[in-house]
Amino acid sequence: MQPPIPDYLADILDHVRDDDGGQSADYIPELRDADPDRLALALCTTSGHVYSAGDGDVEFTIQSISKPFIYALALQELGADAVDEVVGLEPSGEAFNELSLDDNDNRPVNPMINAGAIAVNQLINGEDSSVDDRVEKIRDLLSRLAGRDLSIDEELCNSEILSADRNLSIAHMLRSHGIIHDEAHDAVLSYTRQCSILVTTRDLAVMSATLATGGVQPVTEERLLTSEVCRRTLAVMSSSGMYDGAGRWMAGVGIPAKSGVAGGLIGTLPGQLGIATFSPRLDSSGNSVRGVKIFERLSREMGLHLMAADHHSVPGVRSITRDGDSTVIRLQGTINFTAAENILHELGSHKLGGSELLLDVSRVTSFNRMGRRMVKEGL
Ligand code: DON
Repeated sequence: MQPPIPDYLADILDHVRDDDGGQSADYIPELRDADPDRLALALCTTSGHVYSAGDGDVEFTIQSISKPFIYALALQELGADAVDEVVGLEPSGEAFNELSLDDNDNRPVNPMINAGAIAVNQLINGEDSSVDDRVEKIRDLLSRLAGRDLSIDEELCNSEILSADRNLSIAHMLRSHGIIHDEAHDAVLSYTRQCSILVTTRDLAVMSATLATGGVQPVTEERLLTSEVCRRTLAVMSSSGMYDGAGRWMAGVGIPAKSGVAGGLIGTLPGQLGIATFSPRLDSSGNSVRGVKIFERLSREMGLHLMAADHHSVPGVRSITRDGDSTVIRLQGTINFTAAENILHELGSHKLGGSELLLDVSRVTSFNRMGRRMVKEGL
């Protein structure tokens, strides 16, 4: 059977194709001269099925979309306490390249702005790592997440370095507060090489889906991150991933996301999907104009807003029936606290006759720890 998904994705692209609002980044020739009409959309399910439309296989630099993944790598390598010592978790409400630190403890406020990302980059592979070894570790993780060997756009990286005054100022600021210890130039070089890794929209969808599965790359099935690391990374993406547009984004689209200055944008639906778009023209917050429009539409049409509770249904119990001398209870879906509470409530209010009670779990997709415990103890 041919699934209708590719046609649906192509249709979505056609709806935004003529929107030429926004401006491509123009601070370096490689971004200024990139084709502004490129347009792509890709989805990857947590089962590892990938669908893409438009320019899904065209490469561009990952830029700030690397930040959540390198934050995840630092959490994985050092643990949350050590990472919390150098970077906070609060939204900044400021531009991505603001020279800002928390007033109370002088840490960058979150890992999605440049100050936080430069500090996090320095945690990878230990404080004494060379730039090359650190970047190789980063490139290796991003390659495993994409499921193919990724390369670095050296020309673009050199241009970024030639115009990196702002990031160098940030690195000096971090050094003066003892947050980083490398020379400012090396810290910015390492961060810039991280941003200069080439990906496709398809790669980004798979990488994003790896956060959605709780750390297992859904195509190669390699476990790359723990579920705790993914949960924390997604939490930070939801509060800070879209910079000073984060509040508007969460209200309108409701999907943890991260944008990049080359025009990429990812969104992750925990347990469901990784989504990625590519379109180089950006709005005043540095987020892709057509990418935002695509996400708004997908969220509305596919019902993806994480805060939506449109369909109120009673979770847990599918049916309770009598079969001769047996009472058969059919459960369904994910059995979490709410579903287990409902199951026990239904059982309590039902007259369970017969000599045998059969529990049919063939339609249960999963029990979480609390759901399993409540159902077992309740029975
Ligand atoms: O100037 C930088 O730090 C960039 N190379 C990356 C920033 C970025 O992608 C901002 N996101 N929209």
